[in-house]
Amino acid sequence: MKDDKAVVISILNMKGGVGKTTLTSNLALELSEQGNKVLILDLDPQFNTTQSLFKYRYDSMNKYFEMKEGLLTISTLFMDTTSGVARQLFAKVELQNIIHKLKNNLHIIPGDLSLIAEVNDSSINRLTRHLNGWRVFEIYDYILIDCPPTWGKFTTTALDLSNYYLIPTRLDEFSTIGITILADKLEELVLSGRTSIKCLGVVYMMLGKTPRKLGVSRDQEGYKKDIEKFFNDNVNDQKSMSERVKSKVEPFETKIYNYQKVSHNSSIYKTYDNYPQLMLSIRDLVNEITSRISKSGYFEIGDE
Ligand SMILES: Nc1ncnc2c1ncn2[C@@H]1O[C@H](COP(=O)(O)OP(=O)(O)OP(=O)(O)O)[C@@H](O)[C@H]1O
Ligand SMILES: [Mg+2]
Repeated sequence: MKDDKAVVISILNMKGGVGKTTLTSNLALELSEQGNKVLILDLDPQFNTTQSLFKYRYDSMNKYFEMKEGLLTISTLFMDTTSGVARQLFAKVELQNIIHKLKNNLHIIPGDLSLIAEVNDSSINRLTRHLNGWRVFEIYDYILIDCPPTWGKFTTTALDLSNYYLIPTRLDEFSTIGITILADKLEELVLSGRTSIKCLGVVYMMLGKTPRKLGVSRDQEGYKKDIEKFFNDNVNDQKSMSERVKSKVEPFETKIYNYQKVSHNSSIYKTYDNYPQLMLSIRDLVNEITSRISKSGYFEIGDE
């Protein structure tokens, strides 16, 4: 993917509910509104990104169900068409419509619960063939991939397609464990020769509880200190995460604040007119991301 135009970013963590989907949807919206051509690949069988963006765009899921009926979801791209029945089904699919235009610059390959049944090595090759056939890596400025909270074929496929990964996390015990597990897995990946993929950074999500109580609590401050030590320092003869994954692992300055209201209705920040801070935090994050990508040498570790 390295020589293509698209910046391909997987959003991942081995912990559920840390804001992967929220970050994917809001970043995609913001990047597209800044004039970038953006494609979202929903590789999580929970397909929450698809749900939140279809609801945001159409106020209902009807359009999605219509697409699902016509087999216009990511599952079809994994489909084995060697058997007669599957071939017949596949022949009726208007394949080019699987990339759905939510808005001018914002396109999505919708996810699908039945994805879980589709995955094996050859189905993954089929997905990659379709994506290359559509030249998505040349056409789009950004491709964002929402991953499930587990290390499996979907996540490794996402990473295979990506140049970068972004790690949203909360500051609590299980999220911290989630990052350490992720570090082990990413190290294995790097040791197996995937050295070109880089860590864009870590985004702390959901820190405060209400608009009046923003910021990092004392407990969270403790987790923050520990995890940042894990990113950068050798602890108990164990190399730092940055050294193990051969890329700088560093938090972003941006705080994506937690307003309780966000979780109840929609995870699209733009729908909360009275919470402009959320939009500002996403804009700041986009700036930080683009600045990290454009600074040559940013991802190097070692002697800075
Ligand atoms: N900044 C935020 N403030 C408040 N709530 C948030 C914020 N970000 C995410 N949430 C809420 O937290 C919940 C989990 O977020 P999200 O679905 O993005 O996590 P996830 O990591 O994708 O989860 P999963 O692992 O299940 O895919 C959602 O209900 C979401 O609306
Ligand atoms: Mg999710």
